[in-house]
Parts: sequence; C-alpha cells; structure tokens
Amino acid sequence: MDLAALRSSVDRLSREFATKDGRRLSLEVLQAEVDRPLVERYLAFQPRNSFQGLPPLKDEVCVKWVADMLRTGIHVLARTREATIAGHTAIFPIDHRKCEMLVVVWPEFQNIGIGTALVQSSIKMARQLHFERIWLPVDATNSRARHIYAKCGFEKVSRGQGREVDMVCDLVRAEAEKIAAHLPPVPPAMTPPVFPSKQRREAGRPKVLVVRECLGQAKSAHHAE
Ligand SMILES: CC(C)(COP(=O)(O)OP(=O)(O)OC[C@H]1O[C@@H](n2cnc3c(N)ncnc32)[C@H](O)[C@@H]1OP(=O)(O)O)[C@@H](O)C(=O)NCCC(=O)NCCS
Repeated sequence: MDLAALRSSVDRLSREFATKDGRRLSLEVLQAEVDRPLVERYLAFQPRNSFQGLPPLKDEVCVKWVADMLRTGIHVLARTREATIAGHTAIFPIDHRKCEMLVVVWPEFQNIGIGTALVQSSIKMARQLHFERIWLPVDATNSRARHIYAKCGFEKVSRGQGREVDMVCDLVRAEAEKIAAHLPPVPPAMTPPVFPSKQRREAGRPKVLVVRECLGQAKSAHHAE
C-alpha cells in the first residue's frame, strides 16, 4: 500500500478547531515518516505504561514504537498556537477494507474536546481513503475512551485479549444512514393494496358461495388425511 500517496490525498483535512475552553488548535496531517518532536512528546508522556502498556516504559522501546507507527500509519497531530503537540491520532491499514485507529491526548490537554476532534478526523480520513471499517482494542476500564468512541459511532463487537474489548466503526453503514437521513420522509403506513379486479370480482359474488368454497376446501383437506 502506498502510504505516501494516501497521506498526501488526505492533506486537505488539516484545519483549525476550538476546544471546550476556547483555545484554538490546528489539526495537521503528517507527511514525513520521521518526526522527532512526536518522539520527544511520547518520551515525556506521564505516566508511561498507562494505557494498554503504552507508551512503552523503556526509552529505546518507546522510540522504536513511535518510529514504527510513523512508518506504518497515516497521522494527524493536534497542536497549540505555540506548536506544542497536544494530541495524536493515526490510522493503520490492515487491508484495503479495514484499518486500526489510535488516539492519544497528553494529560494536561485532556477532557477539553481534543480526543473527540481527533477521532472525528481519523474517521474522515478513513472514509476518504475508502476504508469500510475502523477497528480498535480498548481497555474495558477506559471509560473516557469508550465514551468518545461510542459518541463517534463505534460499537463494541467482542471481548478482546485480557481486559480489552474490540470496537468497530462501520463506515459503510454510517454512510448509508447519512444518505437515508437526507431522503424525504417515508409516507405514513397504508393498508395493503387490493388488486381492483379481484376486489370487483369478490364484491359481485354472494358471500355464501365463498363460504361454501372454503368449507369444500376444508372437507377435501380432511378426506386427504
Ligand atoms: C481517551 C482520550 C483519547 C480522550 O481524549 P480527551 O481529549 O480527553 O476527550 P474529550 O475531551 O474529547 O472527551 C471526553 C469525553 O469523555 C467524558 N468523560 C470524561 N471522563 C469520563 C469517564 N471517567 N467516564 C466516561 N466519560 C468520561 C467527557 O464528559 C467527555 O464527553 P462529552 O464531550 O460527551 O461531554 C484521552 O483521555 C487519552 O489520551 N487518554 C490516554 C490514552 C488513551 O487511553 N487512549 C485510548 C487508547 S484506546
């Protein structure tokens, strides 16, 4: 898969947004496969090993983890006006239909809407790149993460490994629902149609004849037993 081409095709998703406390942050699609400031930010994340063993405790493992992510994913950074990295999201293609998603907001910036904005931008990216599903494993006890995933359209699909649950965002269904939401409303329920010719035929026949026919059918069914 040509990740460089995928990255440049979603470049125009870069934009600004406002946090719940009124700060303006930029969302920027990363084009480079090396980003020293992101490595430094993960090395400074406190406490390390706080969500699903991440960021890795040992520095060299942490540096390799970030380098591997940069090489294999499509990344968006949320930066303050002073260029501090406040949050990071990425999608990692699994195959042509499915990708995995990661989202991290640095503790001093949590709970002001950055995580939600990042998840939404990963969903937009995945949609633009024609993925059908985004999958992720999340710790069952990580209720804040599970809340934002559910808010953005992810559903729990199964228990993952250990304490993890797997969640999936079905982009095809979400697209179909979005289209359906713009269709004109369905007319109120009607009685089932009666073909006019049949209606006319039955209206013209004496009721007793119809009843006899039915009795006859019941009789022959009884004899056949
Ligand atoms: C999970 C994480 C990405 C969320 O990002 P964030 O910027 O803090 O989230 P937001 O501010 O956009 O949204 C937080 C939402 O959770 C809600 N929330 C806060 N604490 C909560 C809790 N304990 N339980 C449930 N919901 C909670 C908030 O009310 C808010 O919801 P609302 O906008 O509907 O009111 C961030 O906390 C984080 O990076 N944590 C560490 C890394 C991590 O766990 N990543 C996920 C790995 S799967």
